[in-house]
Amino acid sequence: MTRTATALRPDLATAPRPSDADLPAEAERLAEAERLAEAERLGEVVRRVAADPQAWRPLVRLDGAERHWARLHHPDAPADVELFVVSWRTFERTDLHSHGGATAAFTVVEGVVHEVRVDERGRLMPRQFVPGIVATVAPDVIHDVRNERAVPAVTIHAYSPGLTGLRYYSWQDRQVRLERVVRTRRRA
Ligand SMILES: [Fe+2]
Repeated sequence: MTRTATALRPDLATAPRPSDADLPAEAERLAEAERLAEAERLGEVVRRVAADPQAWRPLVRLDGAERHWARLHHPDAPADVELFVVSWRTFERTDLHSHGGATAAFTVVEGVVHEVRVDERGRLMPRQFVPGIVATVAPDVIHDVRNERAVPAVTIHAYSPGLTGLRYYSWQDRQVRLERVVRTRRRA
């Protein structure tokens, strides 16, 4: 006698299954779940690295002419994740940008930074980050990170896949316009 899947797993006979019409929505739901899982994975990496000041503190540089990015290699970071330590002097900012397809996460280890995102209605939405708070950044997010305080700040950033290019935007009257694409593996 041939035993069918439903004979082996009676629950399969009654479990709700997406209809053909639901498949695009189901695929999108799964893709969104994967995006969230990836962002959470990177968030956990920056949390772990932030808790290890012996790893990031030697890479802090606040005496240069501009915002300083330093590549960090850490044993807790998976091979596909690029890590950076960013040193922010007063009033330094990235300008509006996105990450060229990479998912990202960052956290503050010293000072305070502000992140501004463009929401779906074209509004600039600011958020303050203090040490201990992790931001996750989906590949299509456009944001600007700033140190608006009179004291320096230091942040830890993770990207996967590694950064290969950044897209910079202008913003006016709730309209975002792509201005330039910068090919790089070192800046965000
Ligand atoms: Fe960024």
